[in-house]
Amino acid sequence: MAPLANPTRERNERIVELYRSGVTLQEIGDRFGVTRERVRQIVARAEGAPKRRTGRAGNDAGRASSERVRLRIGNLAKAVLVTGQAYQDPKDALNEFVSNAADEYAELGSRGERVRVLLRRKGKRPVIAIDDVGRGMDPDRLRQVARSLFESSKAGDARTLGEKAIGLLAFQQLGGRCDVVSRAEGSEETWTLRLERGRADASLARERRRPRQLAGTTVYLTELEPEVLRVLTQRKVVDYLRRRRSAALARGDYTIEVVEGRSAELVTAEEPQGVRIEIPAQPTLWGRIEFALYVAPDAVRQRRVAVVGRAGTTIIDDLAELDEFEHEPWISGHVSGQILFEALQQSTGRRAVLLDRDAFPVFRDAVRSVEPVVARTVDQVRREVDAQTADRLSDTLRRIFGRVLKELADLENPMRTLVGSEIGDGGLLDPVETDGRDGAGPDQGDAGDSEPTLDDLSPGTPPPPPPSDDTASNDARPDRSRSRNLPTVAPDPEPGHARSRFDPDAGIVFFNDRHSDYLLVKGDESSLLDYLSTLVAKEYVVYNNPRASSEDIGEEMVRMLIRVRRHLPRRR
Ligand SMILES: Nc1ncnc2c1ncn2[C@@H]1O[C@H](COP(=O)(O)OP(=O)(O)O)[C@@H](O)[C@H]1O
Ligand SMILES: [Mg+2]
Repeated sequence: MAPLANPTRERNERIVELYRSGVTLQEIGDRFGVTRERVRQIVARAEGAPKRRTGRAGNDAGRASSERVRLRIGNLAKAVLVTGQAYQDPKDALNEFVSNAADEYAELGSRGERVRVLLRRKGKRPVIAIDDVGRGMDPDRLRQVARSLFESSKAGDARTLGEKAIGLLAFQQLGGRCDVVSRAEGSEETWTLRLERGRADASLARERRRPRQLAGTTVYLTELEPEVLRVLTQRKVVDYLRRRRSAALARGDYTIEVVEGRSAELVTAEEPQGVRIEIPAQPTLWGRIEFALYVAPDAVRQRRVAVVGRAGTTIIDDLAELDEFEHEPWISGHVSGQILFEALQQSTGRRAVLLDRDAFPVFRDAVRSVEPVVARTVDQVRREVDAQTADRLSDTLRRIFGRVLKELADLENPMRTLVGSEIGDGGLLDPVETDGRDGAGPDQGDAGDSEPTLDDLSPGTPPPPPPSDDTASNDARPDRSRSRNLPTVAPDPEPGHARSRFDPDAGIVFFNDRHSDYLLVKGDESSLLDYLSTLVAKEYVVYNNPRASSEDIGEEMVRMLIRVRRHLPRRR
């Protein structure tokens, strides 16, 4: 049996605990059947009788002369105000309320639910409201929220961002008043907890004017600062939330809509640009570090790598804000994306990584370890394919295809048409030269000119010859004289999503020089040649097999590619 050692002492400890959590003397007294005064004495003894307490605890043996002084907040209203004004930017304060809605969905385990931010900045009574359709709060819960500052029920919950239970106080940076209007699940009543700037108490009342139709919570922020009204435009709020929450948004954890007047805008996760660098996640004692990094061909100053912590929320927009990473490739303007590490802590009220002794060093080492591969990719993508290279490649390509098409013709190729019986020369490929690679000239696409010399190589095979046994008229018929040329390749002036497209009139295979696969190979000439010849093969096969089944297309593609490969110069 549990020893009933000292029931009075246990009771007193419980009383002190309750008092410290914000329950009033009267309520505690009522609960334990003692007077308010008695409760006060018990609390006073616990908090203000150092000698007796230390003596009893007997744990200060070596420091007999020292006195334990319990910290207390001398001015609660001031503490509340100061705590609520720790935010760098009004958007950061607003973000606290979005976090609470997101946390609610996370706790609930629902996905894709809507958080709405409503802005009314004009008129006599400007208001900002943040609305969710979570479980809402009943009056008891609302009371408890007001009484649990710095003691969040979410602390330790990895799904949520909240942990300090001071986020609500952020309203003071935006306006004079904050109404938390909530309807609890299973209840038909709407209740409001009203907080006012610089006040140490809140009011709780049944809401009549703004009853909710559904369970959930709407926080109304009013008596807004003029500065806030100026800064918190729909555009800015959308951009801010996109930056701060793109990981969670991309994952579909929840959706956010920002409404002002008749305009409602859904916040979407940022669209990454360029080639994705495949970097495996790194397991650590504090969880995985994940990398979602992209390298774009053009440098944009604002393009930076964000550091994302718990609950998919961005801690800093730019990794290079950290002294350790204020260098290439992070400042190149080519790299975007995120590094995700749930264990990283955000410092209170500021958008900064808490430089603790556990998670941060692990993070730092992991990021350092991926720097070389990121830098290499940036180099690769930065390197321009100069006009000379493009020309030479186009030349080589035509030779390759001249030979390939000849071979296919010999093989009773159903795709063949104008194939003559003469094999062109060009039996040997000129080695691809590598000089001139460092030229800075942009890819001019000079390769687009049809070289007459290629006609020697081409035994009259058009790039996409009209199928001889196909009477379908849906094929564009290339002009005969042109079609005698082998395909040329050129960068697409109007690139779409595909890697390439074929212009039958011009006989040009246009490649998409924005495509991540192109970016991946362009830094290496032999990879580039391999890639471009694959594209030409694809266009050739697709063009010549307009109604073929996917299986047939696949077969044709392989048939062509293995021949193309045989004629590609050997990789060095
Ligand atoms: N939209 C909401 N839905 C449900 N509960 C909420 C909502 N907003 C605030 N709360 C409750 O109020 C508490 C205090 O919020 P806050 O001051 O932001 O602290 P924290 O999020 O760190 O816990 C939360 O822990 C939560 O229980
Ligand atoms: Mg919070």
